[in-house]
Order: sequence, then C-alpha cells, then structure tokens
Amino acid sequence: MPDADRPGEAKKFYRDIPATNKPFFLKGSNSLDWGMQNRLSRIFNPASGRTVMLAIDHGYFMGPTTGLERIDVRIVPILDYCDALMLTRGILRTTIPSSFGRGTVLRASGGPSILKELSDEQLALDIEDGLRANAAALAVQVFIGGEYESQSVLNMTRLVDLGNRYGMPVLAVTAVGHEMERNAKYFRLACRMCAELGAHIVKSYYIPDGFETVTASCPVPMVMAGGKKLPEIDALTMAYNAVQQGASGVDMGRNIFQSDTPEAMIQAIRQVVHNQLKPSHAYELYQDLRAESLAAT
Ligand code: R5P
Repeated sequence: MPDADRPGEAKKFYRDIPATNKPFFLKGSNSLDWGMQNRLSRIFNPASGRTVMLAIDHGYFMGPTTGLERIDVRIVPILDYCDALMLTRGILRTTIPSSFGRGTVLRASGGPSILKELSDEQLALDIEDGLRANAAALAVQVFIGGEYESQSVLNMTRLVDLGNRYGMPVLAVTAVGHEMERNAKYFRLACRMCAELGAHIVKSYYIPDGFETVTASCPVPMVMAGGKKLPEIDALTMAYNAVQQGASGVDMGRNIFQSDTPEAMIQAIRQVVHNQLKPSHAYELYQDLRAESLAAT
C-alpha cells in the first residue's frame, strides 16, 4: 500500500531557492537534447570540459597499423587512461570488454583503402547499430577540397540528421590530402563548414600559426588530431598548445600507441589536457612513468 501523506507534516518546497538552470558545460551545446548532452558528457569530462580521446580506428582504411597489430595486447591495458575511445564497430565487438564504461566514438564512414582515392567514402554504419552498441558519438570523415568533397559533406549532413533524430552526436573529422596545404585559412574553412552544417564536435589538426583563430571561429567543441608520430616532447607540446589555444582536448592515436610506452604517454597527455601541466613537466612525468614501466617488464 502506498504511504499516505502524514497529517501535520510540512512539505518542503524550498520556495526561497531558485530552480537550478545550469548551462551545459560544452561550447555551443546548450540547446541540444538531454540524451545528446548526456552522450557528450561521456566523451568530455564535465570537470575540466575536455577529453583525452584515444583514436584506434586507423584499421578501417590502413589495416593493421603499426602499434595496433594486437589491440587486445597493446590497447586494452591502457583503456582506463582515456576519457573516450574512437574505433570501429569491428574492434569494439571483437576486442573491447563490454565493461568499458567510458564514451565510445564509432567510425561511421569508410570505403576506400589507402590504395585508392580516400575521399570517396560513403556512410558505412547504420545508426541503429551505433545505438545498439551504446556509442556516445559517431565519426565521419569530411574532405574539404578533396575530389569527393560534396559526397563527404553529404555523408556528414545525412549522419547529423540521423543523429539529431536519435540523440547521437556526430564528430566531423577534417581530413587533409597530401596535396593540400595545412594552414589556418584551410582549417578555418573546413571546421566552420562542418559546424555550420550540423556537426556537434569537429576534429582538426594542429597548426603552429593561427590555430586559435580556427578554434575561435568554430562554434562547437574542437578536438586536436595527433597525426604522424613525433618525439614525445613535441607531441606533448602540441597538445598543450592546442588546449591553451581553445581545443576541448585531443583525439590522438599514433603519438600514443606508437610510443614505446603508450601507458606512460597517455598519462602524460592526460595531465596536459586536464590539468594544464606544462610540456617540460609532462615530459618528465612521461620519462618517470616510462622508466617504471620498462623496469616492470
Ligand atoms: C584517421 O582518419 C582517423 O580518424 C584517426 O583516428 C585520426 O587520424 C587520429 O589519429 P592520429 O592521431 O594517429 O592522427
């Protein structure tokens, strides 16, 4: 039997306390639906507003990339250090423990391999499968200036329409071809186009001149892609600069999993992203953790 109200007992309506109406912590994401915001909170840490997303989706066009030959051996042991994991549904289902409690960002475009024209991608994932796998977001490559530019933009807008229907954020990955110039003018164009056409998060490479104008003119959160493997101190410095210049974190792959001690590198990156540790200190931390790790093996 339900409890009846007890006579004489005062109810507490706290009429002197205004109802809470806190803005959502992520740039440009205030008017999104609850489900979409909840998914974004599984990617971006609400305390710092930033993310360390570990990108391991390279196999979708590159096959078993160096460092990712055995994801169960190299990557699963370091999963606790990332805020979110960017990967394909194949690796998710075959290799990632279903107890993984952080956000997953599923690769949703594909088609050509490294042997062909990369911009000729199509959508390669049904949104229902993303929902079934409990993804926190879907990722799509956008090739501004590429041969199949319009097709890749329309892949993104189609995915955004589906994402908006189901509360699933879309991460637009700005892709650069070998022949394209990587400068602020290009990334301002590419990132802004993705955001204007509906992407909820944009991923861009770091550039030393004018990155802050790319983040400032992009109305949604931006994450920095790592790119080719650099010496650890350079990768830590790049991540530090990107965050200081307005990035909401990193989405890094090779600079973590191609390090000789990925567990040390990802922990140092975390300190740079979430606690604004200076690169020189982060590098010292990396070296200490690396020494511990090598001593233990
Ligand atoms: C490439 O297209 C994929 O989206 C990768 O996830 C992305 O390039 C990030 O990885 P990396 O830091 O190795 O560049």
